[in-house]
Amino acid sequence: MSEFDSSNITQAVIDRMAECRDPRLKQVLTSLVTHLHDFIREVRLTETEWLNAIQFLTAVGKTCTDKRQEFILLSDTLGASILTITLNHPSEHGSAESTVLGPYYWEGAPELPLGSNLAQGVRGEPTFYSGRVLDVEGRPIAGALLDIWSGDGEGNYDMQLPGQTEMRARGKIRTDGAGRYWFRSIRPNYYPVPTDGPVGDMLRATGRHPYRPGHIHMIVSAQGYEPVTTHLFVAESPYIDSDTVFGLKDSLVVTFERHPAGRAPTGETMAEPYYTAQYDFRLRRKASAA
Ligand code: BEZ
Ligand code: FE
Repeated sequence: MSEFDSSNITQAVIDRMAECRDPRLKQVLTSLVTHLHDFIREVRLTETEWLNAIQFLTAVGKTCTDKRQEFILLSDTLGASILTITLNHPSEHGSAESTVLGPYYWEGAPELPLGSNLAQGVRGEPTFYSGRVLDVEGRPIAGALLDIWSGDGEGNYDMQLPGQTEMRARGKIRTDGAGRYWFRSIRPNYYPVPTDGPVGDMLRATGRHPYRPGHIHMIVSAQGYEPVTTHLFVAESPYIDSDTVFGLKDSLVVTFERHPAGRAPTGETMAEPYYTAQYDFRLRRKASAA
């Protein structure tokens, strides 16, 4: 028989894993138990707080469905997602920085010709996006694929709109022989993450706002290169300095330049003012392809 007290309990739990045959699992759980116990000792967690935490995590789990992942939202709003992403996808030699995927990615967007309007019928201020996909030495990558999605000019993604079963403001664009891409969409607006579940309760309880600054998502990929899951952020957007999921990287902030009605970069005549946004993505070679 051995009795444990508040100081030797941590080593006792770690010792129980002595036979664990997976060294990585053992390392991760040993560290987790160490930090968890240190945290409980540090804040002198009360039983009521412990039970509240269990009930909170239970509610997070119950809020998850095949369409909603409240645990990822919790991880996002606690900065755990972006920390994991940043550690695993460091920018190297100027390669484009990664950020969160978010819950609104929809696989299977159509590949569209260069110059297409991805936001046909979507409300929002027209924006012409352009740039290049390059390697880290600045050489153009022909045939790179940009898988693009955004909300509308009011911050709503197609998936969030009741009765909307078709994709909107999504599409794949491939670079030309000189690594160039260009397409039309809208200038994305800021929007709140879902707040009708336990994560919303946590944000309110901690005095936090739920907003993300305006951004357009893309996954940029090319054969032989590391794909990058990223955004372009609207520099002038509200909440640009306080993204609720901590996903903003300075290198991804783009000035959306406003132009009066008239001839757009694609040659079409715009009856209303429009924006242009320009960005070059640099990809690094896959380790095996170096
Ligand atoms: C998004 O950008 O789509 C997003 C990311 C994290 C949580 C909620 C939304
Ligand atoms: Fe988003």
